This record gives sequence, C-alpha cells and structure tokens, in this order.
Amino acid sequence: TPADFRLLVKNASQIVAVCNELQKFLLKDGMQNLVVIENASLVIGHDGLVKAVGGTKEIDEQFKSSSFEKILDVSGLCVIPGLVDAHTHPVWAGDRVHEFAMKLAGASYMDVHRAGGGIHFTVEATRCASEDDLQGALCGRLTRMLRAGTTLVECKSGYGLDTHTELTMLRAIHRARHTLPIGISATYCGAHAVPRGKTQEEALRDVLGEQLPRLQECVLRGEVCVENIDVFCEKGVFELDATRQILTAGRHMGLNINFHGDELHPMKAAELGAELGALAVSHLEEVSDEGIAAMATAKTAAVLLPSTAYILRLKQPRARDMLDAGVIVALGSDFNPNAYCCSMPLVMHLACVNMHLSLNEALAAATINSAYALGASHTHGSLEPGKQGDLLIINAPRWEHLIYQLGGHQELIKHVIIKGLVT
Ligand code: NIG
Ligand code: FE
Repeated sequence: TPADFRLLVKNASQIVAVCNELQKFLLKDGMQNLVVIENASLVIGHDGLVKAVGGTKEIDEQFKSSSFEKILDVSGLCVIPGLVDAHTHPVWAGDRVHEFAMKLAGASYMDVHRAGGGIHFTVEATRCASEDDLQGALCGRLTRMLRAGTTLVECKSGYGLDTHTELTMLRAIHRARHTLPIGISATYCGAHAVPRGKTQEEALRDVLGEQLPRLQECVLRGEVCVENIDVFCEKGVFELDATRQILTAGRHMGLNINFHGDELHPMKAAELGAELGALAVSHLEEVSDEGIAAMATAKTAAVLLPSTAYILRLKQPRARDMLDAGVIVALGSDFNPNAYCCSMPLVMHLACVNMHLSLNEALAAATINSAYALGASHTHGSLEPGKQGDLLIINAPRWEHLIYQLGGHQELIKHVIIKGLVT
C-alpha cells in the first residue's frame, strides 16, 4: 500500500519557516522576526506541498499513525526554505574572462560595452550557438545553482536581440523546465541592449513590431512559456520612454514587469516601475529618494544584486534606506558573463557585509521576498502548510552558517529538496 505522505524530515535542530503571515514578512519589521522552530519536524505530501511544520513532539503526536515514503532524520542539522534567485541571465555561449582582466585594469562596464564588447560579445557567440549547445550550457548552470541551494530561479533571454535567437533562448529555458527539478520563472529580455549597427529607435521598433508579436504566437502554440518582461533601462541603452513603451506592451500581453533600472545612472526607473505596477526593479544603485518612496507605495520589489555591485565596484544600493521606507527588498545573483556567480549563499553574504542587511533580512530577501518579485510568494519562499515543499538541509546546528561560511556550499548544503523529493 502506498505511504500516506511523501516525506518526513524529523529532529532538525532548527527549522526556519521564514514566515507564517506573508504580509508581515514583506515588511521590514517582519524581516527582523523569522519564525525559527527549535527541535523541529516537517511533513510533505504526495502533491509536493508542505502539510505541517512544528516542534518534533507535536509532529510525532499528530502523525503517529501515518506512514511516509521517506524519512530523513536530520538531528544536529538545520532546515531552511529553498533559496529563490530573482535575477539571472543563464543562457549564453562563450565567456568574458578576458574582459574581467580589462575591467580589473580600469575599464568600466560601459567602456567595454561601447567598444563592442560586453553584452555585444556574448550576443555574437550566442547567435552562433545551436539550441542544443545553449540548452547544455543552461542546464549545467542551473544544476550548479541547484547545488548551491536555489530551488526557484528567474531566467532571462537577452543575448539574441533578434527574434530568432531570443526565441531559441526561451525555448531552451522552456525545455529545462521539463528536464530539471529546479523551478523556473522565464523572462523575455529582448531589449537587453541596442544591437550593434542599430539605433535605439530601430531596436524599439523591432521589439514592439516583430519580437513581441512572434513571442506571443510561440506562447499561444505552447512552444515557450514566459512570465516576465525586462528591459535594460540605462543611459545610451534603452532610455526611459523606450523602456515605458516596451514594458507597457509586455504588460498588455499579461507579463509581469521586472526590469533593470537605475544601475549606472539615475534614470527615474524606480519611479517608472512603480507607475507601471512593476513587480520588481533590479539594481537600483542610483535610485532617487522619490523612487524609493514610490516603490514602497506601489509594493514594487527592489531586487538587489550584490555580486554585480561588487565586481564592477559600483556604489552600493541604499538597502537600509529602502528597508526603512518599507520597500520589499529581494536578492538575485545576476548570474551572467560579467558576474559569474551561481551562489545565493554568497549573494546573501555580500548583501550583509556590503549592503548592511542583517542575517534575517538577507534570508527573507533571498526567499519570500525574491519569490514575491517573481509573483510566486503564494507558492514559494517559506515553509508553511500549503506551500511547495522546497527546502535545504544545512550541515550545521544553526542556519546562519549558510551566510557566515564564505564558500564551500558543497559540504554545507547536505540536501536540496524540491516538492518533497531529494534532488
Ligand atoms: O544585470 N546590466 C545589464 N545586464 C546584466 C549584465 C549583462 C552582461 O554584461 O552580459 C546585468 O548586470
Ligand atoms: Fe542583469
């Protein structure tokens, strides 16, 4: 006879549930107050959802006559929700290790971009790659992210900048949904750069008149499935008006707005995001006070990307000001050929040290708040009955080791569990 439940995780020294009431935890005060249950157990059903979380004694009592497909005794170890990476660019060919050396020698990100490198270099390599090659590279990277504790990841297109290659990237992302256990939220980012040899106006016309309509056809045929729309809103790339037009068109297609803004220059991108009802704006190193206030009011999440600010030696985004204003602060790895970072534990570490988040704030930012930024906080980002059973077993008696220990996740993350299945 089949067991009653899929998984029992028992005797954890701590389970960090992250929250019981979502709204509370989207706010700053809630972020100071993770729900940490000492000596705890948890049950996941055959539907992959959490059935119960609580003290070991309580759970023992409640489930004493139940059977489980699998029982994990995690004495001396901790359990936290699976990490959610709210911003990545994982589909591309080639690498840019040579540009890393140039940047260390003093070239800025935009110096390299204007000289035809940066995103343009990766676009050229990606256009030449086959769908299978892109798929292989993508799956390798997603597997690394999974090993580092990411159970839901946003994946952008954006290294095609033409209809054919953008759709190829989105198809590769779509295939990965069926081949890997990691959860995926796909983002169309055809306006990631103005293609070489084109003007911004021409690129805008191409995105609105050609790429988006073709994308819609592919979505209707079920070839791809896209949740979000992104634009690189930056001086000399897509300026505010072009950004507004593209994001608005995406919203009309039913996509969530989640875009790059206020990174290298103040663009009033945060204000635009709030006005359009964006779920999230990423980067925000150059956000204005008005932008912060508008994001707080509109409940537009700020996706901070500590690995990029670190690698490019940018000024740090004002995370504390955002938290004080009540902005929902989330985190992403920004994995891309410029910031080659697959690790959300490292991202949380950098967020604590360089952006002054507390440990609790960093964990909330990398779980429930990053799920919010992807429109998935009703299913992901915390361990509560009814939510998806995605969790990490941490090889330490206190969960904070995951952020405190710099590197070495292979030893520290003992199991990554998705929908109650050990991956
Ligand atoms: O978020 N700023 C634009 N997009 C990426 C970088 C992409 C690249 O350099 O290839 C980012 O940092
Ligand atoms: Fe990015």
